[in-house]
Amino acid sequence: MEIDTTPKRGDEIRLAIDEAAFEGRSVGRVNGFVVFVDGAVPGDVVKARIVKRKSNYAEAKVVSVEQASPFRVEPRCKHFGVCGGCRWQHVDYSKQLQFKEQHVVDAFERIGGLSNLNLLSILGADDIYFYRNKMEYSFADRQWVDRSTRSGAELPANLEAQKVNVFLGLHVPQRYDKVLEITECHLQSEVSNRILSYVRSFTRRRNLLPYSSRSDSGYLRFLVIRQSERTRELMVNLVTVDDRPEVMRDFTADLRSAVPETTTVVNTINSRKAQIAFGELEKVYYGDGVIHERLGEHVFTISARSFFQTNTAQAEKLFEAAKSFAELKGDEVVWDLYSGTGSIALFVSDAAREVVGIEAVESAVRDAERNAQANNVRNCMFLLGDLKERLTADTTWMQSSPKPDVMIIDPPRSGMHPKAVDEILNLAPPRIVYVSCNPMTQARDVKVLCSEKYVLTKLQPVDLFPHTYHIENVAQLLLK
Ligand SMILES: C[S@@+](CC[C@H](N)C(=O)[O-])C[C@H]1O[C@@H](n2cnc3c(N)ncnc32)[C@H](O)[C@@H]1O
Repeated sequence: MEIDTTPKRGDEIRLAIDEAAFEGRSVGRVNGFVVFVDGAVPGDVVKARIVKRKSNYAEAKVVSVEQASPFRVEPRCKHFGVCGGCRWQHVDYSKQLQFKEQHVVDAFERIGGLSNLNLLSILGADDIYFYRNKMEYSFADRQWVDRSTRSGAELPANLEAQKVNVFLGLHVPQRYDKVLEITECHLQSEVSNRILSYVRSFTRRRNLLPYSSRSDSGYLRFLVIRQSERTRELMVNLVTVDDRPEVMRDFTADLRSAVPETTTVVNTINSRKAQIAFGELEKVYYGDGVIHERLGEHVFTISARSFFQTNTAQAEKLFEAAKSFAELKGDEVVWDLYSGTGSIALFVSDAAREVVGIEAVESAVRDAERNAQANNVRNCMFLLGDLKERLTADTTWMQSSPKPDVMIIDPPRSGMHPKAVDEILNLAPPRIVYVSCNPMTQARDVKVLCSEKYVLTKLQPVDLFPHTYHIENVAQLLLK
């Protein structure tokens, strides 16, 4: 095959893959010209088709693997390669961990402009399958059919001819109009596969229609399954457009006999056009509408709308790392910024004098307060507010509250608002522990903190999401 030095869209080229890139892709080069490849593994030699061409790089998809990388393993899941949930199931787990470490280093060197990083060895997962305590599946009236599945077998065609008009599964990346029917998922326990099969047969038997944003009609939106890792309590939440008590009563009765492990059944009703799994009304049809999960010493009550880390065992390792970076002696005031349902605050509370959590979502603040109370933790308080306003020096609260000795920060993927970073610099706590699920925005924020007043002393990556490219990272910063 002829190698074009500047490959064009549609070209098929032979590529040696030499490194992992951001977002689960790999990199190959044609005379120095970078090609990001989907579905390849570093160490492979592949035939790849160029699908996008920009001035300084191209994007390609694997057509065939000509020489397999020694790091390739057989993926377990039959949906692998089509479903976007796992991008690295075909990569040996120890290699996945190495890629994730490299991702953290690249982010801090390239975006953070920092060098000589003190990177502690990544904390990998003991259980790399069935580790999720929550999965959210979507209903759709159209399914995604990929005729070139990994096994080469075709997915069932002509489903419309069988009058099947409810599909339940996961969205294929960047394709939100259809779902991929999921019959097995290796991320949540085996019981979730039985629930999927039950829900599919119930909704088809009753001729219940998925919500369609095109016609703004239909009933079914999402199926959310939450199962506690430690107590095994199991919540099935059907998210629908309207309130149909008779349907839900039948759904619950049949579910309880099909899947007796179910401990609570909830119906979240969201009549708005926005396709989200939250709603204006929650009705409990069985059990008490919550499950309980243990993290460290504490038990958390999780309702249908509560945020909770999806990998319980690894969340414990993450919070242990944050607690150890906080170096608490017992007399410190700790501020837990972006405190969510208070899991970090509670986790460190036994080692601090006082913990103040700040969080923008009211229901999360209420959950955090309830969790503190239920666990008999008396030295935590939780405040509602947007960080960029809460931290401004001229508020009564700021003037009257004790200043933090340690700040633990756990923002969303987008990182911190620049104004919040400025306010943290004004407050200048002696120690900052920055927990993040996105090393790129973390590196960006750390760069600002370090260019002013802080030194980055160590980094601890923790893998909460085996087989995906996601990575959590904890950074310790000390005041200069
Ligand atoms: C990654 S989660 C942190 C979760 C928390 N550590 C826990 O374990 O529950 C980020 C949290 O930041 C909150 N948040 C997002 N933007 C915020 C803002 N501007 N001010 C305060 N909280 C915010 C979100 O509601 C969410 O609970």
